[in-house]
Amino acid sequence: MKQSLIIDCDPGVDDATGLLTAFASNAFDLLAVTTVGGNVSAEKTARNARILRQIAGRKDVPVFVGAARPLRREPAGAGEFHGAEGLGDLEPFEPSAPAGEGTSAEAIAGLVMERPAGSVALAVMGPMTNLALALRAEPRLAAHLGPVVVMGGARSEGGNITASAEFNIWADPEAAAEVFASGCRMIVMGLDVTHQVRATEERIAAIEALPTTSAKASAAMLRFSQRIERVIVGWDAGPLHDPCTVAWLLKPELFELKPCRIAVETESELTRGHTAVEFRVEAATANHFWATRADADGVFALITENLGHASGGMGA
Ligand code: BDR
Ligand code: CA
Repeated sequence: MKQSLIIDCDPGVDDATGLLTAFASNAFDLLAVTTVGGNVSAEKTARNARILRQIAGRKDVPVFVGAARPLRREPAGAGEFHGAEGLGDLEPFEPSAPAGEGTSAEAIAGLVMERPAGSVALAVMGPMTNLALALRAEPRLAAHLGPVVVMGGARSEGGNITASAEFNIWADPEAAAEVFASGCRMIVMGLDVTHQVRATEERIAAIEALPTTSAKASAAMLRFSQRIERVIVGWDAGPLHDPCTVAWLLKPELFELKPCRIAVETESELTRGHTAVEFRVEAATANHFWATRADADGVFALITENLGHASGGMGA
């Protein structure tokens, strides 16, 4: 049976590879893509998700527009890593299909609550504002959701936006704190694991060589990141963050997880958005799981395989 899935994201060059992989996979019943302001504005992330949907030929999947700003903070943005429009070098265009009616938060709550408890997974690839708003509006949601697979958080690797915080959690720490405290079952792909999944020259070239439109688009964004990471961070091969969520849903055995309890720093400006990961918990009752190891070859093989059989096209 296919896994029902909602993807909440802020594309974003790495969100794009995650989305294109999920669009191409036949393991998912993709109920919706919900977008949020993050890497670029909410308007642009929604447009970008609609562009990617069109590239993948998946107009059957609704795209919703989400929160334009974090719960309490000013919108930040990470255009330096994603390009001013959010999709690297890809020239944005006005997609032919519109966004769905209603907000991302409404779509998440509505689509989950009308299905059996535990049946819908949520992959979160951006700040957690939409999910926090959905949980506020529908208190039964936490118990009704299936696994929430999050890209976010920093522990032993340190942060990527400050010394101690990762961008998605830092951008809206209050939202992340509410979601982690909500009782949702959460699988967390922090920097400790995404830094193990590197887009090496060989891995990008393998995707670039595929004949599909989705693979070509993904490879173009991986190339953009490769260039930017070399200039800004000095890394030869940059980490591939967001697709780890989709990879876990497709093949959880590629990751090692540790049961834990995660809390988010919201008071200190110095450590704003730090994820405090407590491993001294009862494994049997834990509902947070911190990813500690990834099989990077396996993750890239999975992405490459799925992008290789993507059937879409710009016109579809
Ligand atoms: C996360 O931040 C964003 O810039 C990326 O899209 C990813 O979701 C990595 O810290
Ligand atoms: Ca993202």
